[in-house]
Amino acid sequence: MLAAVSVADHWDSVYRNKADDELSWMRTDASRSLRLIGSPTNSDAAIVDVGAGTSTLVDHLVDDQWPHITLLDLSAAALEATCCRLADRCADVELVTGTILDWQPQRPYDVWHDRAVFHFLHGSEREWYVSTAAQAIRPGGRLVLATFAHDGPESCSGLPTQRYDTIGLSQVFGDHFALTHHEREVHVTPWAAEQPFTWAVLERRQVSRP
Ligand SMILES: C[S@@+](CC[C@H](N)C(=O)[O-])C[C@H]1O[C@@H](n2cnc3c(N)ncnc32)[C@H](O)[C@@H]1O
Repeated sequence: MLAAVSVADHWDSVYRNKADDELSWMRTDASRSLRLIGSPTNSDAAIVDVGAGTSTLVDHLVDDQWPHITLLDLSAAALEATCCRLADRCADVELVTGTILDWQPQRPYDVWHDRAVFHFLHGSEREWYVSTAAQAIRPGGRLVLATFAHDGPESCSGLPTQRYDTIGLSQVFGDHFALTHHEREVHVTPWAAEQPFTWAVLERRQVSRP
C-alpha cells in the first residue's frame, strides 16, 4: 500500500494533468447528493465533504446557505482548483488538505458527505475512518456515503477499491450508525462506461453499540 504522501502525490498529479472530462467520477449533476443531504436545519448547521476533489457540490452548498462548510481532500491541487472556481465565495468555506485518516474534527457536524472516497480504504484504515466519522457527526446527524457497488469497478484511477452492498456497509458502520436509506446508481463516466454505486444514508446513533 502507498504511504499517505505518495497517495497525495498521486492525486495531485491526477488533478494537475487531467481535464474534468478525463476523470471517471466526474458528474455535472449533484442532485442526488443534495437530495440525500437535505437543507441546513439550524443557524449553526455544519457539513463536511470528505475527499471533495473538484466536485461542484460545494457551489450548491454555498447557494443553500449552509452556515459551516468544510472540504477535506488529500490533494492540495484539487482544493486549489475548487477555491479558484468559487472565487470570492471560497471565503465561506473551510479547506483542509490532508488524509481523512489523520483528521481531527474541530466541531460537531450535522452531515458528512463522501462520494467515491471510502472505497479506497482497506483493512484498519476503514476502522479509523468509521471512528473519525463517529466522533465528528453529532448524534442524529447523517453520513451520506457513495461507494462502488458489489458489481462495481475493482480499481479507480489506478488504485484498488473495495466494493460494497448495503449489508456490507451496515456491518462496517453498524456500531455507531444505523442505515436509514439506500439506493443504487449506475454512474456513467464521461466516456460512457457504467459504474454501479451503492448510496447509503447512515444516521449517527445516540449511543454507540457496546
Ligand atoms: C474519485 S475522487 C472523488 C472526488 C469527489 N468526491 C467527487 O465526487 O467528485 C476521490 C477523491 O478522494 C481524495 N482522497 C483519496 N484518498 C483520500 C484520503 N485518504 N483522505 C482524503 N481524501 C482522499 C482524492 O484526492 C480525490 O479527490
